[in-house]
Amino acid sequence: MSQSERTYIMIKPDGVQRGLVGSIVSRFEQKGFKLVAMKTRLANKELLDQHYQDLTTKGFFPKLRDYMLSGPVCCMVWEGTGAVATGRKMLGATNPLESAPGTIRGDYCLEVGRNVCHGSDSVENAQREIGLWFQDDELVDWSSHSFDWIY
Ligand code: RTP
Repeated sequence: MSQSERTYIMIKPDGVQRGLVGSIVSRFEQKGFKLVAMKTRLANKELLDQHYQDLTTKGFFPKLRDYMLSGPVCCMVWEGTGAVATGRKMLGATNPLESAPGTIRGDYCLEVGRNVCHGSDSVENAQREIGLWFQDDELVDWSSHSFDWIY
């Protein structure tokens, strides 16, 4: 594989409760990205304060935190060329009413406060977020000949 960039993708509680995990995983698999780690867990306030460290002073943060604590999240690490920027494009705009059809948010939701999925916005933040949500030994380095047909 030519490039080992990794991104942190997290299906939010509404996405898990609505049974969208499989559809979202399929999109990343079909694009050609490699699933390096995946687990379901409950978030907690401390973790969310760290994850959303730039947003804790925003007026909407208490609602965002309650939303993220309202049920399990599905945490994933996806790897491949351009995984961070392309992952964001696959998610679509933050506000689902502005997300293009064909994107995850454009296809699956309506409200910014229920926008189904998170994706890292930079390589640096991806590394930070992966370190927050996963232990090193949960990240699996594996190869498949299918990648010879993608790269
Ligand atoms: P994410 O971190 O979830 O991938 O979202 P993002 O970068 O596209 O957007 P960001 O500005 O970082 O906001 C994080 C999440 O906060 C919620 N939000 N609510 N005005 C509001 O009520 C509002 N604005 C943002 C959304 O769930 C957004 O994804």
